[in-house]
Amino acid sequence: MITHDQLLPTVYHLQREGLVGDISVCALNARPLKELASSRMIKQAFPNQTFRAFPDFRKVPLDEKHPDLYKDVLDAMPPRNLVVVAVPDQLHYGVLTEVLRRDQHICCVKPLVLSYEQALEVEKAARDRGLFIGVDYHKRFDDRNLLARQRYRAGEFGDFRLGQARLMEPWYYRQSNFQNWCTCENSDFFTYVGCHYVDLVAFITGLKPVSVSVYGLVDKYPNGNEGYLWTDGRVIWENGGCLNVQNAIAYPDEAPGGNSQGMLLWCQGGDRSGVIEHSDAFRGVKHSYAQASGKLYNEPNPDYFRLVDKGGKGLTPVGYGHRSVEHTLLTAMRIESETAGLGAKAALAARRRMLEEIDAEGIIATPANSSYNELVVEAARMSVTHGGREVTINWGRKPGVRFRTRW
Ligand SMILES: NC(=O)c1ccc[n+]([C@@H]2O[C@H](COP(=O)([O-])OP(=O)(O)OC[C@H]3O[C@@H](n4cnc5c(N)ncnc54)[C@H](O)[C@@H]3O)[C@@H](O)[C@H]2O)c1
Repeated sequence: MITHDQLLPTVYHLQREGLVGDISVCALNARPLKELASSRMIKQAFPNQTFRAFPDFRKVPLDEKHPDLYKDVLDAMPPRNLVVVAVPDQLHYGVLTEVLRRDQHICCVKPLVLSYEQALEVEKAARDRGLFIGVDYHKRFDDRNLLARQRYRAGEFGDFRLGQARLMEPWYYRQSNFQNWCTCENSDFFTYVGCHYVDLVAFITGLKPVSVSVYGLVDKYPNGNEGYLWTDGRVIWENGGCLNVQNAIAYPDEAPGGNSQGMLLWCQGGDRSGVIEHSDAFRGVKHSYAQASGKLYNEPNPDYFRLVDKGGKGLTPVGYGHRSVEHTLLTAMRIESETAGLGAKAALAARRRMLEEIDAEGIIATPANSSYNELVVEAARMSVTHGGREVTINWGRKPGVRFRTRW
């Protein structure tokens, strides 16, 4: 779970720095909370730090479900603190709505929601209340992508023409909780991880996606549930450029590193071509261990999220996964500190102005500056469930026909 691998360590780090107060973590049932609380990795990095668990794993049966308990936890929070939303994709919308109703800023894992109308609704609810929502498209905080964006936008690469991206998750993911929710009726592998590279192409180039087709192969999880576990997506952009994205739970468990991922963008400028090539899995590090409980040969990625010894107590989170969540949390804190002391009306107006600046800057993904992702996801879901047929996006923010098909 991403709460263990990325989110909680960053929040703990900010707590250790004195920037975050009490932390509560809520789950559907107590079992994952017990595992989180007893994680060796987290204990080693943050000795003496704990969270309040809802439901409390010391008191209730580990598999008893508490689907509405998070609302009680939200009710107990003073307004304009921050909630990190990291539930399965199809639950984001309902949870976001409850959180906004209780006046909390939000850090939400991607995808924000699964439909464009929901994204517009969430955007409006947040703006009305002057609340900040940062969507954790953390690849944006990988310096290679910030560098590519800067140089692309300076015109150095020319115009994006053709691109290929892939993100293949490891085979053993089939055994995980994915099998309970990443199933045909809820999601697919393009929606689940392909969205990162769609977001990156938009982030780097500033182009809008205009058409999507996703071919998916249905495969069975160990528990018998079915999912689109192999997908091949094609996204056409407003300048005619075309991105192909392949995703699957396919990376061999025996192979080095955690997954296979990368991006190759071909561009054209005047009478020359330009290329951006990122190897996002193999980052130039090779380890061969004399003793290891896992792989003897490995190619660890030092850039995404690591806990390293930088002196002091415990370990320190580093990497773009950390920087992304940290930046979102610090932004919410900045909004609060810069508007503290103003009257309610003036504070709301000031928060809204700050939100507009953050939207326009376009570095942190927000509902206002990244809801092309919801258009792509919605079109992708239509396409993948219809054998990969093309779905055209009808741009324009007024309600109406969002998508066109020629089927
Ligand atoms: N690279 C990335 O950006 C990335 C990576 C992994 C996951 N994610 C996103 O994070 C989200 C969670 O993924 P995961 O892999 O951690 O899944 P997971 O299944 O491991 O965790 C989901 C958690 O949500 C909890 N939950 C479900 N219903 C709930 C409810 N009603 N109230 C409270 N808690 C509830 C579950 O108990 C579970 O602990 C998904 O949206 C996924 O797309 C993003």
